[in-house]
Amino acid sequence: MHLTQDLYTIYGELLVKKDQEITPIIVKSVRTMGERHKDVRVPLENTDIFTDFEKVFNDKRYITMFKPPISKNEICNVASKLKMENDLIFELNTMKNNLPYTYLHLLIIAAFAIKLGLLYDSKKYNREIVSHCGFTHDIGKTRIPISILNKEKKLTKEERFIIETHPITGYLLLNYYLKRDRRDCSLASLDHHERLDGSGYPKGIKRINRYTQLISPIDVLDALMTKRPYRKQAYSLRASLDYLLKEADSHRLSKNIVLTLVSLARKEKPDIRTMKISRKLRERLPEELTYEKYL
Ligand SMILES: [Fe+2]
Ligand SMILES: [Fe+2]
Repeated sequence: MHLTQDLYTIYGELLVKKDQEITPIIVKSVRTMGERHKDVRVPLENTDIFTDFEKVFNDKRYITMFKPPISKNEICNVASKLKMENDLIFELNTMKNNLPYTYLHLLIIAAFAIKLGLLYDSKKYNREIVSHCGFTHDIGKTRIPISILNKEKKLTKEERFIIETHPITGYLLLNYYLKRDRRDCSLASLDHHERLDGSGYPKGIKRINRYTQLISPIDVLDALMTKRPYRKQAYSLRASLDYLLKEADSHRLSKNIVLTLVSLARKEKPDIRTMKISRKLRERLPEELTYEKYL
């Protein structure tokens, strides 16, 4: 595995040169550089990111899913108390200017991640980690050329290869910015496109950390529910959930998380252990509705 361009921190410090094979030694050297760099964590509450975060709950696509159980206030309470590294706040603010859609995507994923985290036992998911993973899993996209991310036509093999470096890029950046207690967040960035049957990327692994397993289904849901440069129309909620169910049936995504999302999308919020699911696709997808999994 290697990068296609030199990787710098937001302050212009060179972390890894392009074409350098990313070995555990390289990751360790990035961590050591990060340890030398002094940074402070500040509560998200006092940032513009939190102001933007609160607006996510007005998103019409997810109105039903954000209804209780777990209220907007409970979710915002967790997000406001999250202490984030100042450098990462800087990174996210830059992303807001350069990649507004990816920035919004991160806020949505964070909101759902916190909601799911609160629905499950607090021993299973640490609230800080779960929200941090949501806010930062795609941070590597900030180093992918915008022209590739916004390209409307089909990507070439080379361009696709470049996009596929965003998980490792995010992993390296987070190894630099985060301290030891947040390793799960750098892993979520590295593995959020991995799948439980080994069909994902970059490594094709099957053992996936529980935080990443929580992030991936939400990540796919929002990718489908959003218009993309190459796809002018978004999937409907129903079609998106059908897709997720298929992925869970094929042992690619966590079944529990997918079923929880399906339950949240229903008005009556049924118990996932007794919930009835029709496997019939109610909606035929228009031909042009494609989904590029590597994003
Ligand atoms: Fe991604
Ligand atoms: Fe994502």
